[in-house]
Amino acid sequence: MPDVTTGVAPNSHIAQYQARGLKGRILSGVQPSGDLHLGNYLGAIRNFARLQNDYECLYCVVDLHAITVWQDPAQLAPKTREIASAFLAAGVDGDKHVIFNQSMVPEHAELAWIFNCVARMGWMSRMTQFKEKAGKDRENVSLGLFAYPALMAADILIYKATHVPVGEDQKQHLELTRDIAIKFNNDFAVPDFFPVTEPLIFGAATRVMSLRDGTKKMSKSDPSDFSRINLTDDADAIAQKIRRAKTDPHPMPDTAADAEKRPDADNLLGIYAALADIEKDAAIAQFAGKQFSEFKSALTDLAVAKLGPVGAEMQRLMKDPGHVDGVLRNGAERARALAAPILAETYKIVGFLKP
Ligand code: TYM
Repeated sequence: MPDVTTGVAPNSHIAQYQARGLKGRILSGVQPSGDLHLGNYLGAIRNFARLQNDYECLYCVVDLHAITVWQDPAQLAPKTREIASAFLAAGVDGDKHVIFNQSMVPEHAELAWIFNCVARMGWMSRMTQFKEKAGKDRENVSLGLFAYPALMAADILIYKATHVPVGEDQKQHLELTRDIAIKFNNDFAVPDFFPVTEPLIFGAATRVMSLRDGTKKMSKSDPSDFSRINLTDDADAIAQKIRRAKTDPHPMPDTAADAEKRPDADNLLGIYAALADIEKDAAIAQFAGKQFSEFKSALTDLAVAKLGPVGAEMQRLMKDPGHVDGVLRNGAERARALAAPILAETYKIVGFLKP
């Protein structure tokens, strides 16, 4: 029966955290493929640090996901350290919370196999990220790319995580995670075994767009480096990229409706608002009717001030791989301790013999 004062069933997944003064357990992941950019930071990584006082957090470098498309084996380890460094540089406390890489915790892949047998082909075929990544070459992409969202569901549910902070592009994958949890619970008649996870998508920049084309998502795989601001870019590179960012010939938008019709301007205003920690409407009001040159110079100063220290700390950490590896090793041990009993319970539910 739900508790009348909170509306939360006493045995629900969230209630056990509430009893400890927390809002729930978080799991989120970032792929070690390509360079980390402003979209990853504003849409996800910055929020990881902001949520850490209210949730128990696990942050994962998803190297198994990365190899769904070709990765240079010589680059995978340094890229993995780079993402872990970004978590730490953004302010995540690696002692209090758990930072690790996915391949070190085999329970993710083991639960993913079970979810491959729960998820339906039709569900996976509807995933827009798969359709975008596969493009016209569907016959030639890896089977792993198709099964990608089942592994993502396993990342989350192997810890029975209640909340997942992500950018908007991951919303559909999280809906699928909910569908998998519900189907597993129903198929095996174990109501409430896996939680129905809530996405946490917030801030003024949940979908940061390319600096070269305001209708395309900022992405690690865009061939043009001028399409994105990388977290390790120095002040000169940031200034150059903002100077060259696409705009239109009109003065800055003066209403939200005007901005919406002008995707390049709208994107830059969203970035400004997110970096300044203000609402987008406030950023629109601040620059309404001004010239883009004036706005771009304010945006450059703000971006350098906010991103510079994060980039510098990342660079510092990347020069100390021993330290970062220690954080990941320790994180993996703690993650396994949480994942192993949940996998064991899952195997029992499925009916596997344990002689
Ligand atoms: P990935 O590595 O592509 O991106 C990492 C995070 O950055 C967010 N993001 C963006 N946010 C705003 N604007 C953008 N342009 C932008 N580009 C990326 C993503 O939404 C993401 O939060 N499938 C995931 C990784 C993953 C995962 C998980 C996430 C694997 N398992 C479990 C959460 C929970 C991905 O490809 O992220």
